[in-house]
Amino acid sequence: MRRPIRQRHAHPHRHAGPLALALLLALAGSRALAEPRHATVEDCAACHGLDGIARDTEVPHLAGQNERYLFNQMMAFRSGKRAHKEMRYMARTMSVEEIAALATYYAALPPR
Ligand code: HEC
Repeated sequence: MRRPIRQRHAHPHRHAGPLALALLLALAGSRALAEPRHATVEDCAACHGLDGIARDTEVPHLAGQNERYLFNQMMAFRSGKRAHKEMRYMARTMSVEEIAALATYYAALPPR
């Protein structure tokens, strides 16, 4: 019994950017404000969408996915346990705090 939420934001990119970034910075802790971090949702958006809905059939949706699952998958990409060229490249420079913040962000988005 999922509500159809697809039409809710006609242009999610236009509005979600600063908000998403602020959320990430808040979740990542004060450290994030002092130094530029490696990964933000902006980096992920090209493939996974800022709304967590991928435009490409090769890329999984992240919106509404289990937070723990997202966290574990990113940790697995980072360690190389889960092999994938692009995701390993993305994850290798990410701190555990960033990975946790990104997992929280995507898990909280409405699934398609
Ligand atoms: C260049 C495109 C690209 C970028 C940029 C990218 N990803 Fe991915 N991501 C993928 C692809 C493709 C997969 C599927 C990997 C596979 O087939 O195993 C994936 C998989 C994932 C998964 C696992 C999803 C699942 O269902 O198992 C997570 C979590 C994830 N990405 C998070 C991120 C985050 C967070 C960022 C930004 C820091 C990011 N990705 C940036 C392409 C990308």
